[in-house]
Amino acid sequence: RPKVDVTLYDLMEKIAKFYQRKLSSPQGKPAVNYLKKRGLSGEIAKRFAIGYVPGEWRNLESIFPQLKTDKKLQQQLIDCGMLIKKDNSLYDRFRDRIMFPIKDKRGRVIAFGGRIIDQGEPKYLNSPETPIFHKSNELYGLYQARQANRKLERLLIVEGYMDVVALAQFNINNAVATLGTATTESHLQQLFRTTRELVLCFDGDRAGRDAALRALEHGLSQLRDGRDIKLMFLPDGEDPDSMVRKVGKDEFLRQVSESTPLFEFLLKHLASQVDLNSVSGRGQLVHLAKPYLDKITDPIYHEFFSNALADKAQLSVEKLEKIIEQPQQTA
Ligand code: CTP
Ligand code: MN
Ligand code: MN
Ligand code: MN
Ligand code: MN
Repeated sequence: RPKVDVTLYDLMEKIAKFYQRKLSSPQGKPAVNYLKKRGLSGEIAKRFAIGYVPGEWRNLESIFPQLKTDKKLQQQLIDCGMLIKKDNSLYDRFRDRIMFPIKDKRGRVIAFGGRIIDQGEPKYLNSPETPIFHKSNELYGLYQARQANRKLERLLIVEGYMDVVALAQFNINNAVATLGTATTESHLQQLFRTTRELVLCFDGDRAGRDAALRALEHGLSQLRDGRDIKLMFLPDGEDPDSMVRKVGKDEFLRQVSESTPLFEFLLKHLASQVDLNSVSGRGQLVHLAKPYLDKITDPIYHEFFSNALADKAQLSVEKLEKIIEQPQQTA
């Protein structure tokens, strides 16, 4: 991997500070009102360094007065995704948005997510991939979660910036969000370096449920050493932000603690695709489950899942093992 220009981090930090100052300036008033309307306090906005970028095309010139003539700086700001060059003119990528700085594990600002105030398209605009920002490796809120907790027993994986921040507003300080992308193996690997239990708490819509299933598939190969992955299902149309505001902290946490264990969810999901009352249906279940079972490399978890599968398919474990160890017909 090529060496990263470390000054990009300094530029991003400087920009984040500028956006924060703008939020508390008169220009930031509509943004502040919007955040208030969403139930966020100044304290939480500060903890997450939330800012505001005004609607001008060239806000960055006001923090970098030399920008007009300094070609190197121009290129650096293009490289970190903050400036766009088009037909020989340069302008800010982000304008008139509420800005969520995305920090890496060490707390360095590496990217931004920008939300439109109230309605409009696109609702979120995010930094592109840059030399310092690789979406599939980063999690929004991980730095803050680690700051807030000496030991993290469990982490909640949610979909959105607002989910992380709203939960923190309710003093639930262990949520992280993937950045508008699927949960990757690299995400899970990193999170398991910080905690042993992951709870997927995605939006209660079709997209959220599909995303949860895909995330689980990546999780299977990482099960070992008492690690656990669970799923929390929200009612249709809710996300963690709307949910915690509706039911409050205690009830939300109660639901977190009652999340569905991974194997239970997976078997239920597979069983719903077959007719368990028929022999052929139970056979299909075994075949549907086999690719998942194959991903579980840890012998103990492998055993757990085979036992649960045998039980569901009404087979002895010995018989199940025989069936699934058979070589593929394609050879
Ligand atoms: N997202 C994005 N671009 C969009 C919409 C969504 O990058 N146009 C990403 C953002 O990271 C967002 C996440 O997907 O936080 C979840 O999307 P969504 O549920 O639509 O947004 P919320 O986080 O719920 O935001 P809000 O409550 O402000 O509507
Ligand atoms: Mn959604
Ligand atoms: Mn939301
Ligand atoms: Mn949402
Ligand atoms: Mn086996």
